[in-house]
Order: sequence, then structure tokens, then C-alpha cells
Amino acid sequence: MEFVPIRTKRAGRSRGADGFPHPCGTGRADPSFDPGSFALTLLDVIESPDYRPPILPPIATELLALATRVDVDLDEIVPLVERDGWFAVRLRAAASAEARATGVKLGSLRQVCLYFGLLQIRDLVIEESVADCVFLGDAHQDTMNGLRRHSLATGHLARSLAECSSVASELAYVAGLLHDVGIAGVLHVLTERDIELGPLPPPSVLWPAIERIHGRVGAIMARHWGFAPEIALAIEVHHDQPAGLDASPLAAALSIASELAHHEGFGLAEVALDGSGRDSARGADESSSAEPTELGPKEDGAPSTRVPATVLDRQLSLLGLERSSLHLIAHRARRALRDIDEASGTGEAG
Ligand SMILES: [Fe+2]
Repeated sequence: MEFVPIRTKRAGRSRGADGFPHPCGTGRADPSFDPGSFALTLLDVIESPDYRPPILPPIATELLALATRVDVDLDEIVPLVERDGWFAVRLRAAASAEARATGVKLGSLRQVCLYFGLLQIRDLVIEESVADCVFLGDAHQDTMNGLRRHSLATGHLARSLAECSSVASELAYVAGLLHDVGIAGVLHVLTERDIELGPLPPPSVLWPAIERIHGRVGAIMARHWGFAPEIALAIEVHHDQPAGLDASPLAAALSIASELAHHEGFGLAEVALDGSGRDSARGADESSSAEPTELGPKEDGAPSTRVPATVLDRQLSLLGLERSSLHLIAHRARRALRDIDEASGTGEAG
């Protein structure tokens, strides 16, 4: 069966309650506003030496540092987890639920850490940290909630893709989780520096500027936080992948995983098309004159035009995969995708 991207399962929500169209979608253009120059203004702020992204809790940065070493001892991990009581409770609950399903009984925190291992603990810490410290903001909470949901799904699907390809699976989940973090970073800047930036047009008008720079901003944030260079690079080019030897398989995995997330009902793009039929969230590479992929209609009847066939096929060939394998890859991640909405109590997954 051929994989036919992208058919969004749920229709109807074209805009968050905070006024933003959903991330990776397209805001309608306002002729009096120049997204290009506003994007450069935002980049000036974020690339300045005094920019700091939202602060991750100490356990996240310390675990990131530990995870870069090959000689980590359990005696270093357990005290670190113990120091963060709230995370220790969450880790114990997650490990116990998983262990129960396999008939394993866990007792001490040491056993919990041993059961999960450093990388799984790191992934859980990053997941909790970005949910609590990054995908959060009173001014844009609806968009942040959507971002978090899409990012979790993309993380699980990126891991599933990595397990079926040559992509480093230990990087894939975290990279997927962070691939659109630049959108959240820009929203934080807009909130914190509104006086400095001056009067702004409505959020929907700002959206093309945010889309244009979110990969670069996300990479800057990831470097500030100390994530692996491969992760930062993949975030930076996930919509604008260079061809040839410089192409990043991890970035290709992020791009495909994000599209699969949309396909599985975890997209943020009931896309407001700009009239050209293109999603301007894509880089120049993808919005070229390449022949569009044959796409299924969305439930609201509007044609979906997310991924040109040539781009999808080039990304798949970078991973050594065929389109037909995407159904299996999505299937492998479906239990984790269901858990996303069950955990948040929305029951929206479908
Ligand atoms: Fe993106």
C-alpha cells in the first residue's frame, strides 16, 4: 500500500484561541507588513550575545552532559534524580507503568534508574522540561499546547523512523521533541520584549516571519542548552535541507516525522493557505517548482499541499526507506501517540 501524505484527520481548527494559526501553517499576508524585515529584527534579538532561551531545570542540563559520556555510572545518575523530587516521582510512575506491563516489579529509585537507563531517563527529563519551561506561556498557551502535542508525536515518530533506518536512534526522539522549539522561542521573545519591538500587528500577520526563522532560532536555543551539534543542525535545516553530501539524515527524519505526525492527527496545520497553494513554513528547497505529491483531501474538502513528491522521496532515499515503509513506521509509534492524549486527558488521538 502506498503512503499518501498528508491527510489531516481532524478538521475545523484553523486558528488557536490566542489568534495564531497553527504552527507550521501559513498566516495570511498583510501588504503593509514585511515578514522578511521583521524576521531579521527577531533574529537580531535572538542572535545577540545577551539572548537567553527559557531556562531548563538543572537536572536537564546535568543529564545532557552525562549523556555525552560513555563511562557513566549508575551512582552518578541516581543522586541526580533524587535531588529533583518532582522528577523522581514522575520517573518512578513512568517506569512502574512500563514495568508492570512486562511483569517486572520495581522497588528502589536505583532499580527504576537501572530499568530505564540513562538515555531513556534523559529523554523523559527533556520531555518534562520543555513542557514545563518552554511550551508554556500565558499569552500564547493555545499555540504552546498545540506545539507540545505536535512535538511529542514527532519525537515518537522520529524514533520509529530511526529504528528502521541508519539515523542514530539515541538522538531522534529528543531532536523530534525540539524540532519546532524555535516557534516557542520566538513567542517568548514577543512576550518578553514587546516594548522593545514596538507595536506589532496581529499574531496571524506575524506568523510568516516566525515560520521563516523557527528552524534557525530552534538551533540557537538547542546550542544554548548544550544539545549535541547534530541535533542543533537537524533542527536548523528541517525545512531547508541541503542536497548532496551535506544532507543530514536526522533532519530528513525530522521532516518526515513531522509530516507523519500531521498525517496521524497530531498536526498543527489546519493550514491557512496563502492563496498560492503553498505552505510557506517550508524552506526554499521545498517550496520550489517541484511537482506536488499526490495528496488526499482534508476532511474540510480543501486540498492538502504540504510535501512535494520529489522532496519526500529525496528525504526517504537519504534514510534508505521507501514510501511503503511509512505505514509500518507510523504503526510502530501509534501506542505512544495514543498515550500523548491519554496522558493529557484530551482523548483526541485518532
Ligand atoms: Fe517546523
